[in-house]
Amino acid sequence: MELKNQRWTDEEFFAEREKVLSLWPTGREIDLFEAGNYLRALPPEKNYALAVAKAYAEGLTLVQPRGGVALVDDHIALLKYLQDQGGAELLPTTTDTYTRNLKFTEAQRGIEESKRARRSMLNGCPIVNHGLKAGRRIAESVSRPIIVLSGTAFPQLTAEMGFACGLTAFLGAGISYTAAYTKDLPFTQGIRHYQYVDRLTSFYQERGIRLHREQPGFLTGTLIPPGIGIAVAVLEMLMAAGQGVKHYSLGLCQNLNILQDVAALRALKEVGREYLDRFGYQEVFFSVATHQWMQAFPTDEPRAYAVIVVGGIIAALAGATQVITKSVHEAEGIPTKEANAEGVKATRMAIRLVRSCRFPENLQLEQEKKIIIQEAGSILNKALEMGDGDPVLGSLRSLQAGVLDIPWAPNRHVAGKVIPVRDANGAIRYLDQGNLPLDRQVRAYHREKIKERELRNGRELDYESAIHDITEVSKMLED
Ligand code: 5AD
Repeated sequence: MELKNQRWTDEEFFAEREKVLSLWPTGREIDLFEAGNYLRALPPEKNYALAVAKAYAEGLTLVQPRGGVALVDDHIALLKYLQDQGGAELLPTTTDTYTRNLKFTEAQRGIEESKRARRSMLNGCPIVNHGLKAGRRIAESVSRPIIVLSGTAFPQLTAEMGFACGLTAFLGAGISYTAAYTKDLPFTQGIRHYQYVDRLTSFYQERGIRLHREQPGFLTGTLIPPGIGIAVAVLEMLMAAGQGVKHYSLGLCQNLNILQDVAALRALKEVGREYLDRFGYQEVFFSVATHQWMQAFPTDEPRAYAVIVVGGIIAALAGATQVITKSVHEAEGIPTKEANAEGVKATRMAIRLVRSCRFPENLQLEQEKKIIIQEAGSILNKALEMGDGDPVLGSLRSLQAGVLDIPWAPNRHVAGKVIPVRDANGAIRYLDQGNLPLDRQVRAYHREKIKERELRNGRELDYESAIHDITEVSKMLED
């Protein structure tokens, strides 16, 4: 089958599905028609798409924590805690690393070890191994919608299991997760794997079941220039729409420059709409999600809380529909359920305190937003041109040429020439723009902003400065 932005036929989908379900015995438990009936009977308050659409209409920001542990009962206790103590409006099911890499035998061993140790020996919840009945018990134990979070380029069976269990949303996309979570996998494969997930989503959609697909946006969890984040997000949304997905969200990671983060989230919304319309996907609904700081976190609680709270403020000021939270345990590893819920609560408090204030339109914001839109537009237009108008081919060809590039990606098929650096105010600029097709005006703007920091520091910014900027937040106030 040739890889392009074309909806898979039922024959193509079901042929692939045979292979997907055979990856682990629990795959055989999944019957799409039975699962469809189960999903149709779920109460509306457990439907992720409905919750997001309602929040969008009301201008609210919903809080989504991450979280997952090895055993079903512990995972249920975690979700209940996040819901009842943290007040999370949306609930997570993060899968473990073995599941993400299709190592289900090892995941099974992790389950057994966790039972013996009476604590989680996995870094997430292995929902494929637990199977249909256990997964449904998870969904039935809480009263809010659940999203499956699986940082993987191999998502197909996990998405099958998640949806069939009544977890009504799935995070991930073919460029982002191939770039961030694999070293050797070609983008053709990662993109194809997510076409499957999107086609699965539209299979349900076409039977009246609205499921939510979420684009991750944080890429390598480093300082990602917003123009790059937006270009990737929009290409991924176009690829999802190409498979018939109707309910989507686009994400971006926060860089902790309030003005640029707000400008970027507003730009994301505008660029997203423009390209959906251009491709004739007017009926696709999408909203915007912001990810709290994805880089190295401060190790002590007060500093970590500041990062979390600013993250909530940015989400509210930008009018984002979702914010994905962190906890003060971030620097150490997987948070306890208490710390996780506290991150949710602190974020909700910040959002509540902002009330209905939104970042006001002003010249500076307008300027920043304009530059971001120009950047994203240049990358997107060039990529689409290279793909003869096809977003899949455009993604593949532009990645190969470095016209689309992702800083600090572990995947060797990413050009990796772009080097981001902060300016005097902490906004992200290009120290090296690699092969990105940025126009003269945009380049001059970045150059001028970098100059301001150079003048202040009394020296030129270089590669060392870029490395410094990656860990700066985690070390702030230490000297
Ligand atoms: N529980 C809570 N948070 C998790 N993360 C990953 N796995 C878990 C888990 N099991 C979060 C961490 C990580 C991000 C990608 O997801 O914050 O940085």
